[in-house]
Amino acid sequence: MCGIIGYVGTEECAPILLEGLRRLEYRGYDSAGVAVHDGRELNVRRAAGKLTALGDVLARDPVHGTTGIGHTRWATHGKPAERNAHPHVSGDIAVVHNGIIENHVELKRSLKEQGREFHSDTDTEIVAHLVDLATQRGLDLFEAVRETLKVIRGAYAIAVLSRADSSRIVLAKNASPLVLGVGEGVMLAASDVPALLAHSRDVIFLEDGEMAEITRKGARIETVAGVAVERAAVRITWSLMQAERGGYKHFMLKEVHEQPRALEDTLRGRVLLEDGLLEPGEMGIGVDDAKAIKRVVFLACGTSFHAALHGRYLLEALARVPAVAELASEFRYRDPVVGEGDLVIAVSQSGETADTLAAAKEAKERGARILAVVNVQGSAIARMAHGTLYTHAGPEIGVASTKCFTAQLAALTMLAIHLGRSRGTLGAEKARALLGEFVQIPHKMRTALEGAKHVESVARSILHTRDALFLGRGLSSAIALEGALKLKEISYVHAEGYAGGEMKHGPLALVDRDMPVVCLLPSDSTLEKMLSNVQEVRARDGNVIAIVDDESVAKDLATYTIKVPATVEALTPLLTIVPLQLLSYYVADLRGTDVDQPRNLAKTVTVE
Ligand code: AGP
Repeated sequence: MCGIIGYVGTEECAPILLEGLRRLEYRGYDSAGVAVHDGRELNVRRAAGKLTALGDVLARDPVHGTTGIGHTRWATHGKPAERNAHPHVSGDIAVVHNGIIENHVELKRSLKEQGREFHSDTDTEIVAHLVDLATQRGLDLFEAVRETLKVIRGAYAIAVLSRADSSRIVLAKNASPLVLGVGEGVMLAASDVPALLAHSRDVIFLEDGEMAEITRKGARIETVAGVAVERAAVRITWSLMQAERGGYKHFMLKEVHEQPRALEDTLRGRVLLEDGLLEPGEMGIGVDDAKAIKRVVFLACGTSFHAALHGRYLLEALARVPAVAELASEFRYRDPVVGEGDLVIAVSQSGETADTLAAAKEAKERGARILAVVNVQGSAIARMAHGTLYTHAGPEIGVASTKCFTAQLAALTMLAIHLGRSRGTLGAEKARALLGEFVQIPHKMRTALEGAKHVESVARSILHTRDALFLGRGLSSAIALEGALKLKEISYVHAEGYAGGEMKHGPLALVDRDMPVVCLLPSDSTLEKMLSNVQEVRARDGNVIAIVDDESVAKDLATYTIKVPATVEALTPLLTIVPLQLLSYYVADLRGTDVDQPRNLAKTVTVE
């Protein structure tokens, strides 16, 4: 999500910035820009679209200088357009930013009251104004940035350049990545190592709450609180390809590990912990709208459909509104009964899936209100919907959806809490307790990810299987479906997901000692029933792999047990899916398949 590059050296920097941004393309973006200091002035060039568009602008209207900053923007606040592309300039100050400024609404209001004019819809422009104001009060650039950081809340990596000083770039980091590159008479900064490797293999990773100033001579690092930081550079030995994947073997594995961050970003600034309500702005569903909803219809495909099943379950449980989840590819071909009073929720990672788009359009034409739950700003489904709830998972490169799925689960859980509170079916105390646990989930997910080595050894044990079953009940039934989909799409092992109670109605016939049966057994309201289903599998010698939060549960039943942290029932899927993603990843990798681009599949399915 967004890429930052900064350069202070002796060479013409525009081509260096452009090349650095090219190395960050994998992060996803929809516009780009640079600001270069020519010794007197700051020259900004920006363009919507791909880097070739920025390259064309620079070819027509070149900039010269040896200090500059650059940015690829993945839209979060404001459409992907030239006016919203970074750098943003206020007075003498140019800023690029990766992340989200949570308190941007109140800060913008106050800046406008002080007579500041805004030229974009972004939260970032606030930073440029604040730094500019602070320098006008006489603060040096480094101190002006420090003052600004004390006011803004949220996630950021920023790089700031001032017309008053071509010799330095000031940087700061909190919850978004930033790394410095150390060269001979040259210093760089970037969102990720690949952008630096052409100039330096010695890098310094900034930590949250730190700021830095880079000049040709080196870096000065301090905490925002003013404590000097001494940190030696580390030598990068990865190949460029490895570096783009953050050292992970595949994008999918990287994205699985990015899930705690994706969740934090999806929750950030949205949930009002006190009353359990979401900021209605972007969704357009206030309390009265929520009360007027007669029925909710989810439309989605593939993994997003599994998230929709989760949403349906929670909406019924918490908001007491009838809800159905429909495969978008089927919905529009059966003359559906849908219209006024229906809230149709189109769930899609890409926001471009042809089936989901067409089904949502059909429902809109029939009078339903459309809410898009998508990950890509300005995507087709977001554009046609009445309101949008964005998942902030960042770009997902692996064809198999992982972090977008958990971000969808999180967004739909927030929505269910919001609708429950608005409709008066969820009490304030229960909502607060649920939200209090919700914000712990990223941390618990990190704990679940620590079990990756154990999951790899389980994967090794089922490496040569031809088939696998996944079982779960209640909220875990959608996770069973998703676990099976993950395994089949990247490892080409035939896998089926079932609600546990369905076993005896057919699939049990498949079970013998060669059949791995992955059983979701969190301590929830369906545990006892699930344990009976597992007994049925064991009685046929099935090879049980139990996903538990309490190891004693499956002690005598399972061949392998994989433990995840315990949480409340509504949030369990956010943790139990993690070992299933890892299991499919390791089976696929050990079988030597093309994990990130499995055969026959595309990341965005724009055909029906
Ligand atoms: C997920 O692993 C799959 N690649 C696929 O099922 C995907 O979820 C489906 O095509 C829907 O895509 P969307 O979320 O972009 O609409």
